[in-house]
Amino acid sequence: MKREVDFLVIGSGIAGLSYALKVADHGKVLVVSKTEINETATWYAQGGIAAVMYNPDNYEKHIADTMKAGNYLNDEKIVRITITESTERVKELIEWGTQFDMEASGRYALAREGGHSEFRVLHHQDKTGAEIQRALVEKVFKHPNIEVLENHFTIDIITQHHLGRIVRSSHSDIQCYGAYILDPETGSIDTVLAKTTLLATGGAGNVYQTTTNPTIATGDGIAMVYRAKGIVDNMEFIQFHPTSLYNPNQKPSFLITEALRGAGAVLKDSKGKEFMQKYDSRGSLAPRDIVARAIDNEMKLSGSDHVYLDARSISEHEIMNHFPTIYAKCLSLGINILKEMIPVVPAAHYICGGVKTDEHGRTSIHNLYASGEVASTGLHGANRLASNSLLESIVFSHRASLHAIENLNNIDFNNEIPDWNAEGTVLNEEMILITQSRKELQSIMSNYVGIVRSDIRLKRAFDRLKIISEETEELFDRSVVSVDICELRNMIKVAHLIIKFASQRRESIGLHYSINYPAK
Ligand code: FAD
Ligand code: SIN
Repeated sequence: MKREVDFLVIGSGIAGLSYALKVADHGKVLVVSKTEINETATWYAQGGIAAVMYNPDNYEKHIADTMKAGNYLNDEKIVRITITESTERVKELIEWGTQFDMEASGRYALAREGGHSEFRVLHHQDKTGAEIQRALVEKVFKHPNIEVLENHFTIDIITQHHLGRIVRSSHSDIQCYGAYILDPETGSIDTVLAKTTLLATGGAGNVYQTTTNPTIATGDGIAMVYRAKGIVDNMEFIQFHPTSLYNPNQKPSFLITEALRGAGAVLKDSKGKEFMQKYDSRGSLAPRDIVARAIDNEMKLSGSDHVYLDARSISEHEIMNHFPTIYAKCLSLGINILKEMIPVVPAAHYICGGVKTDEHGRTSIHNLYASGEVASTGLHGANRLASNSLLESIVFSHRASLHAIENLNNIDFNNEIPDWNAEGTVLNEEMILITQSRKELQSIMSNYVGIVRSDIRLKRAFDRLKIISEETEELFDRSVVSVDICELRNMIKVAHLIIKFASQRRESIGLHYSINYPAK
């Protein structure tokens, strides 16, 4: 089936929904989500959203912290845009119904996280993302121009390639005409023609064995753009969150927010001794790259599977009011965090790179915007400052919406686009081929392309991945399209890009640490 919309939005997290709300008064909007609308990384966000609100904080301090955390590989213009627009965008979230915690004085309660020189993180207890998502979803469902298509999977964006033309990455005139969207229940694939498309497909944590990301985070948007010969950037910088709850049987890993360290919790080794001061004068509140690497080193030295986070110095009142979800989760596993230390381990958490965008959220492909974790705006550089990603999403979705609205009348639908070609494909009855390759991929990435890397590990990862990639492409070509094969194919592309970018970076900086190039 063919259908036409003015604004196609792929993704129902903060980036997709905030954009949809902005463009909805100007045309027909279709939001696509590959599972149910709330199953997003946004929903799981705990700590909060960073924004400059009150004295003594100011934009220059937040800019300086962001640049420092990013090891100055950030794009300073983009950092300035993001931070100076933070207050206005957060106020808009509040106007849309998001409730952030407040102090008795009537001011917003602000938390502090690693790398922040001031208290500037607005939050809703320890479930900020769920609160933001709730408010956005409520508004989206009320808007008459927005249609939400849940449990539908975007296979690929449509470009001239689908008209039989040769498209190369050197071409500057690649156009996006919409996307092919699969209904996994019926197997039908719709051709959705769109005047403009926003990619808001989130991150790619599932290329690793252990991740805080929900299962939807398989890097689909990044892979789609790479296949379409668009520009992808900064892919070597994968952020491992230092403190996910050590509970090997649980997927995704449950996060223990950095705000707990901001409130006074400290990291300790298996003997109950603090160790972070050995690595950084900021101790347990050093930026994430430093803390995750320190934990990795301590685990290797002691042979232990985890370290501990000691939150016992935090008052019961603060734990119950600010961290009730973490308290309840740990208690359900028999750990009373008021009395016992929490076993924690680093887990893949955030991809700093992705689809390269400019200050208007434009990608290198015409009429295709990207926002949120899928995008590489230049804000994060070599390492993301905690709680800057929800902020980045609303700032660039806002900017992309302004640009898309302004250009809408200059764009026509392309009615020559053919339907998806499924000729010669048969039902794949061997799921094991997909599940085993997925496990192998995750094992390769965790063992060779994790927190600490080396030339030989990257080369080995590249060689192993090549075999899985060739097998999967061959399987894809002869199989009826399914979500599983598409996700595997996308994760392989993203893993390939991470390895490629990491191999080209011949230094240790930020989140990319190689034993062959010790940090200066
Ligand atoms: P998401 O919210 O992940 O949404 C992605 C959407 O894309 C989903 O709707 C999905 O279904 C859809 N999608 C993906 N692929 C396809 C496809 N092929 N077809 C159709 N739909 C597709 N950041 C902060 O700033 N502060 C925090 O406190 C914080 N805490 C975090 C805690 C956890 C546990 C995690 C995992 C992340 C946290 N982050 C935090 C990071 C932040 O949550 C994410 O970067 C941000 O929410 C990403 O939003 P998004 O809209 O880009 O993507
Ligand atoms: C956290 O709450 O520690 C996560 C914050 C983030 O990823 O920005």
